[in-house]
Amino acid sequence: MTRDPNIVWHEGAVPRGMRREKLGAVGCTVWMTGLSGSGKSTIASALEHALVGRGVFAYRLDGDNVRHGLNANLGFSANDREENIRRIGEVSKLFADAGVVAITSFISPYRADRAKVRALHEAAGLPFVEVFVDTPIEVCESRDPKGLYKKARAGEIKGFTGIDDPYEAPEAPEVTLPTAELSIEESVQVILENLEKAGIRTR
Ligand code: ADX
Repeated sequence: MTRDPNIVWHEGAVPRGMRREKLGAVGCTVWMTGLSGSGKSTIASALEHALVGRGVFAYRLDGDNVRHGLNANLGFSANDREENIRRIGEVSKLFADAGVVAITSFISPYRADRAKVRALHEAAGLPFVEVFVDTPIEVCESRDPKGLYKKARAGEIKGFTGIDDPYEAPEAPEVTLPTAELSIEESVQVILENLEKAGIRTR
């Protein structure tokens, strides 16, 4: 959708089939969602390492990192979180279209926003694999790697996801990782198996 009717789509000369044939590149988006401290970034990082180690072009888009650059102007209001996810949805789609396995790790607390990103990929014929990093809040809070739960409980951070801001768990994700029962390696393995099943090259 554009703001101005005088903006016209310009089709390129490289169809997806050519990218696949000449570059061996088949892209998709692996969308990790879960609470802060659930392990999204750690699993995303291990997955990226496993894929690149096998010769698959994979790239990670991480919430905290993207908020240092592209999304540095966004905070944590509902509107800003929505815009955060909208932008990353578009960016991950571009990566996937380019033939990259885009691995995103954002809390992405709202179901509706994740559904929009899924629809964006489906409309473009690109696989979208939603991964619910299912870690109970008690576990996230006991880990508290950045000390943010402590600050949120002390009232020093307002609107912290899981404390005084909502997290809407996925209803039908492609993958659920009960991280309390899985090692990082096992979680990566589960995702890799799922990608293979979905016809995405993992080696
Ligand atoms: S999202 O809700 O918009 O998807 P995102 O994944 O980009 O969030 O950023 C979450 C990270 O920002 C958390 O891991 C945490 O380190 C930090 N953070 C700072 N303030 C908040 C807050 N109010 N709620 C959640 N996370 C916060």
